[in-house]
Amino acid sequence: MLESTNFTYKNNRLYCEDVSVDEIVRQVGTPVYIYSKSYFKDRYTEFTNAFNSINHTIFYAAKSNFNLSVIKTFLDLGSGVDVNSEGELIRALKAGATPDKIILTGVGKTAREIKLGLEHDVLMIKAESEEEVYLINDIASQIHKIARVALRVNPDVDAQTHPYISTGLAENKFGKSVEDALEVYSKEKELSNVRFTGIDMHIGSQIVTIDPFIEAIEKLKEVHKIVTSFDVHIEHFDIGGGIGVKYKDETPFTIKEFANAIIPKLSTCGCDILFEPGRFLTANAGALIVEVLYTKKNSSKNFLVVDGAMTDLLRPSIYGSYHHVVPVTVYSNRENRIYDVVGPVCESGDFLAKNRELQEGRQNDYYAVMSAGAYAMVMASNYNARRRAPEVLVDGSSFKVVRSRETFDYLLYDESV
Ligand SMILES: Cc1ncc(COP(=O)(O)O)c(C=O)c1O
Repeated sequence: MLESTNFTYKNNRLYCEDVSVDEIVRQVGTPVYIYSKSYFKDRYTEFTNAFNSINHTIFYAAKSNFNLSVIKTFLDLGSGVDVNSEGELIRALKAGATPDKIILTGVGKTAREIKLGLEHDVLMIKAESEEEVYLINDIASQIHKIARVALRVNPDVDAQTHPYISTGLAENKFGKSVEDALEVYSKEKELSNVRFTGIDMHIGSQIVTIDPFIEAIEKLKEVHKIVTSFDVHIEHFDIGGGIGVKYKDETPFTIKEFANAIIPKLSTCGCDILFEPGRFLTANAGALIVEVLYTKKNSSKNFLVVDGAMTDLLRPSIYGSYHHVVPVTVYSNRENRIYDVVGPVCESGDFLAKNRELQEGRQNDYYAVMSAGAYAMVMASNYNARRRAPEVLVDGSSFKVVRSRETFDYLLYDESV
């Protein structure tokens, strides 16, 4: 069940690398996110090694986990950072990213965000509409910069993933169609302060088959060919992120299979190939540890009411996502029961798992909600005036709190009566 993570049992107690989860809980409390640093490193290395036969750069998608120490872990391995807002840009810079290692994404960037990206000379801004390209041109002209821009092309392919995280269909808000993108590229000479240096796509997230990527890459190659005939010099071919991971019983392709399938398609394009993986690098690096506050039975249902909630892990509530739940301590004398694992928030949509067969839970037991390294803490909220949980980074036999639990003073500092 935990085979693809760095969480393992030793003497019936859950460990992250060489640190017992109990020990972290004793010092930091619950709910708490725990991440394995070596998992981040291994996944990154696996990715980059698979593509070592072509010029490529990985831009870690910070939206999946924007903790500064997590970003820094990837920077230290040679990664760049894909940022989706000024907040993520500021985080990337604070973690130590140099501007040439940052690409700025976003379907609705404000003028302020564009200006910030230009002032910092980021490697590339990915534009998603003609209006945005003209705004980038105006802002760049005002501050005397030449903007390096990639157009996000919407290739209209079905990524066969959850509709909320499918982004490459014509009906989605993202990018521009092939035809529209070509028209925008053809206007480069009218744009005094924009140079088109890239072609970009990102067709969705948690994609577990390679075919949609191949279909989209083929379409973008056509775009590349035509754009080159406009005398536009494309340096970067960005195929985005979206590589799926195993949460339950998915069988995602391996990164080696992915590389074997797409390298032959990309090796002749003469561009640096950019990747923006998020989830692949982070999801299974982490777990959210929660404590059982109460156990109860309503009608025929058994509930474990825990101190973690949809405010800490929103994915089950908004996507119906599955996350394994495992006990932090396994007791050989306890039987299994079917439980809903629910939080303290006043919504029936506040659950972490439903109808799960789990070891019988008792008050003050701890459970780990797995695969909480991606799209977990970054989607956390203060609903019900809850404090967001701390994050812990484990490295071998030591661990560090890399973001502490919010305080009520912090939450109230800018409010008045
Ligand atoms: C433009 C872009 N790049 C990269 C990513 C990362 O996706 P994933 O975490 O699925 O790899 C996303 C996620 O939504 C995205 O929108």
